[in-house]
Amino acid sequence: MNDDKKPVISLTTESPYIVVNLKRFENLHGKKYPLKPIMGLCRCGESNDKPYCDGAHKEKGIDWEKKPDRHEYRWKNYAGDEITIHFNPAVCSHDGSCRDNLPSVFNIDRRPWINTNGASVDEIIEVIKLCPSGALCYSIGGQRYSEFYSGEPLIRASKKGPIEVLGGIKLNDDQGEKPETEDHYVLCGCGWSKNKPFCDGHHLEKLKQNNEK
Ligand code: SF4
Ligand code: FES
Repeated sequence: MNDDKKPVISLTTESPYIVVNLKRFENLHGKKYPLKPIMGLCRCGESNDKPYCDGAHKEKGIDWEKKPDRHEYRWKNYAGDEITIHFNPAVCSHDGSCRDNLPSVFNIDRRPWINTNGASVDEIIEVIKLCPSGALCYSIGGQRYSEFYSGEPLIRASKKGPIEVLGGIKLNDDQGEKPETEDHYVLCGCGWSKNKPFCDGHHLEKLKQNNEK
């Protein structure tokens, strides 16, 4: 693939996400969205044509700044006998993949919420690879592993908010924001994140307030 044909996401403080050269665009269940060579995706949460931008941000503007009360950026380490799990709450998009797929290890009703000896190393690695945001990674024998997605570049967008970006799609942000992991990250499409442009799970609060599921 020529460099100039690789997909790229660009954004400014006044623009939606501008996506070029994308070849795979789906919802979170794998259903394909129509592709255009250049697409604007909603980041203010107000579009009536989500996940595409319909220009709604032009009226209210885009609240693009990070909020001072966002989750502190901090890696927490959970050591087990053979593997250490690392978790950074600032990056978590709260999609629940870890909790739903391996509750013996990831259980938010327990403290500490991660029990690293609760499953085999292979099971843990398999589930960490499902984490869309970069909030989870692991170390074995002192070597840290955080980039996992080797497939074709893909964007999976939910009309309710999160925009999952997989496969090393470059983010060109005029504020210089870089994702935690380059091969997988989640952008905010609801407008409520305190850690913009990245999703921090606040779409769940928005849905609750609006009585949506
Ligand atoms: S983003 Fe990662 S850490 Fe957060 S809930 Fe999903 S799988 Fe778990
Ligand atoms: S999509 Fe906005 S906080 Fe998750």
